Amino acid sequence: MTKLIDTTAPQEKALLIGVSLFSDKNLLSLEDSLDELSLLAETAGVEVMETITQNLNTPNPKTFIGSGKVEEVKILAQELGADMVIFDNVLSPRHQRELEEALGESIRVIDRTALILDIFAQHANTSEGGLQVELAQYEYRLPRLTRAWTHLARQAGGGGGRAGGVGGVGLRGPGETQLEVDRRIISRRIEFLKEELEKVRAHRSRYRQRRKKTRIPVIALVGYTNAGKSTLLNRLASSDVYVADQLFATLDPTTRRVELPGGQAVLFTDTVGFIQKLPTELVAAFRATLEEISDADVLLHVVDITHRNASAQAKSVQETLIDIGAGDIPMVTAFNKIDLLKDPEAAVDNLEEFSGTFPISARTGQGIDALLSAIESELFETYIELDVFIPYQEGQLISKLHEFGQVHEVENLEEGTRIKGLIPRRFMHQFEPYFMPDPDDDEL
Ligand code: GTP
Repeated sequence: MTKLIDTTAPQEKALLIGVSLFSDKNLLSLEDSLDELSLLAETAGVEVMETITQNLNTPNPKTFIGSGKVEEVKILAQELGADMVIFDNVLSPRHQRELEEALGESIRVIDRTALILDIFAQHANTSEGGLQVELAQYEYRLPRLTRAWTHLARQAGGGGGRAGGVGGVGLRGPGETQLEVDRRIISRRIEFLKEELEKVRAHRSRYRQRRKKTRIPVIALVGYTNAGKSTLLNRLASSDVYVADQLFATLDPTTRRVELPGGQAVLFTDTVGFIQKLPTELVAAFRATLEEISDADVLLHVVDITHRNASAQAKSVQETLIDIGAGDIPMVTAFNKIDLLKDPEAAVDNLEEFSGTFPISARTGQGIDALLSAIESELFETYIELDVFIPYQEGQLISKLHEFGQVHEVENLEEGTRIKGLIPRRFMHQFEPYFMPDPDDDEL
């Protein structure tokens, strides 16, 4: 993995730039989004010197911001000794190139995506996390290779990242420019990383299948970054998951076995923190981690109720869940950090659009018992009893029943299979056409 920001050198200084576009439909205001960017920069180890904003109908095709603004940024960067400018908006490769040219050699141009990728690179602890981040970084950088790359390549080589030597000399084919060599090497590296990840995924999927056979239900913790998921998992399992007041402290799913009040054993799994404008590169790269979520029996959505943008954060989590196909998994919502509130009830009322919520404090343990009971009842409510006759051509439904439900009785008949068992409620509509008639109905 390569790091854009050198955390060993003296702290780098940045200007933040946020552009409010006419077409934007963001959940956060420009100001709040920039506050978040500032926190992201801090997490990456960068000192924020100044924040600059601009309102535009459409971005400038060349430099995203207008030419007058570019001049303003250039002068300010010189005055404040900034090493980089960080855009809150996503920059196209062309914008980035033109901006770098306009601002001069000494100033790097980074956008929100690159910054988040950098934080992820700093926090990925397992080999899977590392592979995912490295792949996302290269896919992001490939179309952006310019002279700026030489700077990154030097860092990559010096930093000892697995990508070391990407800008290496001596590999140039006949007639190839250094840029072409770099592109070729990166493309090859991308292919390699994809293959490695496929292997990890295959392993993970075998592990999941085994877990399914043991029938231990899985509860996936989801939530905006810093909501308190790791702290809650620690409390639930008396484990020692890494907890830090930093964004994205947790990058790799961590699973713990917990007993619910009724005695049912379940697995709680912590997942990557969400964030608004989660770069699509990352959603794709973290597919394996996100698959843990779409495979869960119940989602536990942890919301930091004390955060000024709690509602927007919760909505952004829900949107991402829908995007990754986990929108229909039953969910229990925990409003966390109530120990910090004078009047927890009032805060909960403020977010009344979220029904079925439980105020808790992962830190003090307040409200946890009620939360666990709610998860337990959600879990049992999620399964319904089935008595179906499935024709042979609908074999995939039988596989689904084996995979997600419980099969109690099987009778192979001439034209299909009669099965009795349990299935999660969310799949019920697929089985409805094959329900066996209820004998009680005949009597009416
Ligand atoms: P990501 O790894 O970014 O996804 O964060 P996370 O959701 O796992 O959050 P984490 O558990 O790391 O907690 C973030 C910060 O909030 C830490 O400083 C915790 O100590 C703090 N925190 C978590 N729960 C509570 C709580 O109930 N009360 C208070 N006062 N602080 C809490």
